[in-house]
Amino acid sequence: MKHNYSTISVVQKIASPMPCMSQLVQDKIDEFESRGSEDAFCVGDIGDVITKFNKWKELMPRVEPFYAVKCNSDNVVLKTLADMGAGFDCASKGEISQVMKLGVDASRIIYANPCKQKSFVKYAAKYGVDMMTFDNEAELVKVKDIFPDAKLVLRILPVAQVKVQCQLGNKFGCHPSNVRRLLLKAKELDVNVMGVSFHVGSGVGEAQAFAYAVKQAHEAWEIATELGFKMTLLDIGGGFPGQANAPITFTEIATVVNEALDVYFPSGSGVRIIGEPGRYMVASAFTLAVNIIAKRTVVKEVAGTDSGVNTSEPSHMYYVNDGVYGSFNCIIYDHAHPEPRVISDSPDRFNSSVWGPTCDGLDCIMPECKLPEMDVGQWMYFADMGAYTVAAGSTFNGMPRPQFFYVCNEDLWNQVYPEHTAPKRRCESMSADADFPHFMTGPDMKSLREAANSISCCTEDEIVFA
Ligand SMILES: Cc1ncc(COP(=O)(O)O)c(C=O)c1O
Repeated sequence: MKHNYSTISVVQKIASPMPCMSQLVQDKIDEFESRGSEDAFCVGDIGDVITKFNKWKELMPRVEPFYAVKCNSDNVVLKTLADMGAGFDCASKGEISQVMKLGVDASRIIYANPCKQKSFVKYAAKYGVDMMTFDNEAELVKVKDIFPDAKLVLRILPVAQVKVQCQLGNKFGCHPSNVRRLLLKAKELDVNVMGVSFHVGSGVGEAQAFAYAVKQAHEAWEIATELGFKMTLLDIGGGFPGQANAPITFTEIATVVNEALDVYFPSGSGVRIIGEPGRYMVASAFTLAVNIIAKRTVVKEVAGTDSGVNTSEPSHMYYVNDGVYGSFNCIIYDHAHPEPRVISDSPDRFNSSVWGPTCDGLDCIMPECKLPEMDVGQWMYFADMGAYTVAAGSTFNGMPRPQFFYVCNEDLWNQVYPEHTAPKRRCESMSADADFPHFMTGPDMKSLREAANSISCCTEDEIVFA
């Protein structure tokens, strides 16, 4: 299947130095307000994705990134990564189809779900997506039956106990003590096992997790080789943090991974190594702005001091137009802690809480925080909203998903699409304030308004694939 497709026409290219995201968001808010719109919106910085991809290639040159589509299946992200040469980790027929529609060849896809629906395996076979993971006997029998030529990758269970944001080992992975037995079954079925994979857990907190897992993968590899399988692929999975203030840096992880690979899978060994980064590529690229659609002020009883007399202080409940059933599902599924940022001149902070728009009491974004007092119609925004957010969001209660806008630093854009290099626009009076202040003041925003180019809006239909 071959698709021709044009460049992404919906990304607003912005000359260097690009204004920081908070300025771009404010500019968009101004534009929304000028046309009376109060809808939630998300700004995706495609330059951030490009920078992450470049950093991966630079710091882990031996590991080919296969982006985990489940993390954020935004077409603009997928297309940019596809154009940069990334591979893709797909979990289903739907993801395989989406990626292939972007022109990605089957050889650049791994079907990395160890427990697959039969009809999905048939679909993978039909379109030549032959690399797929397994971790149990039933899956081997299924694949042998439907797709006997599949290239199978054994997913092992990393046994080291490490801090992670989301556990995966409770559901997937062959325990080391079962590896031989499972591979003997593969031998008996005469299927083609050619690789080992693992996933240390999503959002790992200790770089050493990768060192242990690579060692364990090597042990499984040796068993497979001893049993006569021709082993060629190591897949180190995902787990790399992606948010701006992650507990460990990608550089720290890359150092550990490179050292472990040099010991157990040295460059001369001819082993192909891939990884399946999800959150690393997209978490920091997306910023979500929400509108305060309602407000209640309640009096909360609090314990008094020495006298033992109760005093009361007011607390403001802000209701915004995206919530836990939408983009903020990450609070429940991804154990995320998004923090609101607001634009206000006031130095005063009050007890506050932030709630989603549905009629469910569970729909709470922040049960307690300190914010300046705000009114209905004002905005808050949240950084690091690119990973496991809109991907799993619903429209429960009929609440719409946010609108999406895309920006990209022009120099980064031109790296990826040199043939489309546009004449540089002049951008004046821009201070590239890379650190997001937690609370910002208003007037600066206005002065930067002219400098920040307006961001164009699109729906998926507007991305043209010829
Ligand atoms: C098989 C597989 N690969 C990769 C990923 C991506 O993980 P992360 O976003 O932590 O990089 C996941 C996430 O669940 C996964 O299940």
